[in-house]
Amino acid sequence: SSTEVEQKDDHFEELFQRLQPKKPVAGGLVANYQGVWFYADLLQATLTFQKHFKAIDSDIILATMPKSGTTWLKALTFSIVNRNNHSVDESPLLFSNPHYLVPFLEIYLYKDGNIPDIDSMPCPRILATHLPYQFLPSSILDCSNNCRIIYLCRNPLDVFTSVLQFLLQNGRISSPSMSIDVPFERFCQGIHPYGPFWDHCLGYWDASLKNPQKVLFLKYEDLKKDINSSVKKIAGFLGYPFSAEEEEAGLVEEIAMLCSFENLKNLDCNKEGELHAAFRAKHSSFFRKAEVGDWVNVLTPSMANRLEKLFQEKLGESGLAL
Ligand code: A3P
Repeated sequence: SSTEVEQKDDHFEELFQRLQPKKPVAGGLVANYQGVWFYADLLQATLTFQKHFKAIDSDIILATMPKSGTTWLKALTFSIVNRNNHSVDESPLLFSNPHYLVPFLEIYLYKDGNIPDIDSMPCPRILATHLPYQFLPSSILDCSNNCRIIYLCRNPLDVFTSVLQFLLQNGRISSPSMSIDVPFERFCQGIHPYGPFWDHCLGYWDASLKNPQKVLFLKYEDLKKDINSSVKKIAGFLGYPFSAEEEEAGLVEEIAMLCSFENLKNLDCNKEGELHAAFRAKHSSFFRKAEVGDWVNVLTPSMANRLEKLFQEKLGESGLAL
């Protein structure tokens, strides 16, 4: 339920008009605002979110670049934090796509200038965003606030591949007329919603080094390698560590299994239906292949080479390797 709606006022329209240049990306125009590329509606929602959101200590913010494993991180965090509220075989995840259990802030809750009544959400509130670190409202970033941020990053070659397939599956781009050269070029220039990608991950990477109690930096590939350790790491970071009894009872593995790609993909709630967020997206389109290295089926070796070099250069001496 919403308490108020901020109309697309003249001020916002004027602001977006003024931003130059604008570039066509997947059926819409993006413009650069303070170093980040936005669609008009996402920028409006972002500004409303920044203005109205008040973090509380128990809040958990899940941050990702689109197609980095957001759905997985939502399922895992929801299950870890709520494990005492229901057993794994009665999990709400069995009946709801994870995006309903952990809503997006700027894509959904603050969409169209809506001001949601999030004070009535049960605590801890688990909320998701694709915004870069420096765009988060000051009440989240404020060091006196104890809310936690988990960032999940993924290899950019696989992210680019996943984005392309997601847009295709949801009819945002059409395959016969589509050449990947243009979207690839834009991606390399950092021109895509929430881009540039390298700035996005570096922002959270630096924050996690400066304040490891507040920001946990994870990689999709590490979750794929060892999900049980990752589940324990997330739980410990959030202040919900598994007890020896829980571990002995196999709860870590149960949660990992519940949230596994194979399990979630085959549930009716994820096979059917559509999510109406920034645009309509089939629930099934959030579960495609979940493989590391699927980019080989989309990118030529020279494209891959270029992207790898670009990221090495951009990440420089940060210590972050993707
Ligand atoms: P692919 O397109 O490579 O298959 P997001 O959730 O951020 O939109 O990212 C979607 C990507 O995560 C897709 O990658 C999807 O298949 C993968 N994914 C979804 N659920 C997953 C899960 N439970 N475990 C591992 N990967 C998952």
